[in-house]
Amino acid sequence: MRETARAFAQKSLAPIAGQLDRESRFPREQLRELAELGLMGVNVPEKYGGAEAGPVAYALAMMEIAQGCAATAVTMAVNNMVAETLCRFGSEEQKARYVPEITSGRFEAASFGLSEPHCGSDAAALRTSARRDGDSWVINGSKQWITSGDRAGLIIVWARTGGNGSKGISAFLVEGGARGLHVGRHEDKMGVRASTTVSLSFEDLRLPAGALLGPQEQGFGVAMTALEGGRIGVSAQAVGIGTAALEAAARYAQQRQAFGRPIADYQAIRFMLADSATELEAARLLTLRAAALKEAGRPFALEGSMAKLYSAEKAIKACDRAVQVHGGYGYIDEFPVERHYRDVRVTAIYEGTSEIQRHVIARELLRE
Ligand code: CAA
Repeated sequence: MRETARAFAQKSLAPIAGQLDRESRFPREQLRELAELGLMGVNVPEKYGGAEAGPVAYALAMMEIAQGCAATAVTMAVNNMVAETLCRFGSEEQKARYVPEITSGRFEAASFGLSEPHCGSDAAALRTSARRDGDSWVINGSKQWITSGDRAGLIIVWARTGGNGSKGISAFLVEGGARGLHVGRHEDKMGVRASTTVSLSFEDLRLPAGALLGPQEQGFGVAMTALEGGRIGVSAQAVGIGTAALEAAARYAQQRQAFGRPIADYQAIRFMLADSATELEAARLLTLRAAALKEAGRPFALEGSMAKLYSAEKAIKACDRAVQVHGGYGYIDEFPVERHYRDVRVTAIYEGTSEIQRHVIARELLRE
């Protein structure tokens, strides 16, 4: 999987990532090709069109794709997360109907509709409601920061069916283009600009009873389980972006001359490269350790959060150093490090901020 992902990322993504970013162009064709390579369902059973290659292969593939194009990687990550969540919690009918659409690339994308305008970290405070009406559910409310929400063939939408807090929440499957589903504002983001991020609103959106994903009022657990796995993906993404920046910095340092020598000869530059390489290697190993635990069927929430926290923060630092190595050229779009610097920032925010990761780590430690 890694070799497949690397070959595709270097040949078909890295050369156009800058242009996709400048034009904020959704990588539709590239995503279709990724699906053909099995990368839209890396940890999904073959029965549903997945590669069934496991969480370690997924993390390795994600590192490679993110190294080529971070925006394509985040779209791929959410598609994989939704497909895996369906496989874990969906009925046979739901899995057969939707998962092959995602893994084959027939759906342009799939989305994860949890966050709302007033609550991101505090997911259990969501207000979107689902009211039972005969054989239907009627959804009202809004979502924000929804990756690929305008492109999705399927969106998992979390809504309140019961009382306050985490115990009153259920998960639903909403098809793209459903009547009552409205796509709102397209966010003009700092980075990962070729992925789309939109707000969604639901106005008396009517769903059949069979659209409930998992047991009623156990939707919060569905979201948390999905995010635990998703965090390994974001961690891998950060490692990939950081590695791209480090490689660009090493290349530039060997070419750029100052005071009669390549700047790679100077200790100031060498130490920056050495620190980034060491930290990214540690981040890579933390990511793979969390993925290996998941693959072994063991708990991995603690290790997944540690990996995401560490990888995001160290990859941000690696991108910052890469800009510094480039000097003025790091601050303009002639070199890719300016994009890596913008792209990597969100890895410390989405799928749980660094502060939420610390909260989860402390919670798990104190529970032990
Ligand atoms: N499975 C089942 N149940 C779980 C669970 C899991 N994996 N994790 C937690 N729960 C349950 C707990 O057992 C608890 O139930 P009880 O009250 O019965 O014990 C309940 O859920 C609440 O859990 P906690 O008490 O641990 O909650 P907390 O307040 O300590 O922490 C939180 C909750 C970790 C902060 C959580 O709200 C969270 O993860 N927030 C961040 C949300 C997030 O990551 N959003 C990202 C948006 S998606 C995105 O970015 C995708 C994208 O498009 C790129």
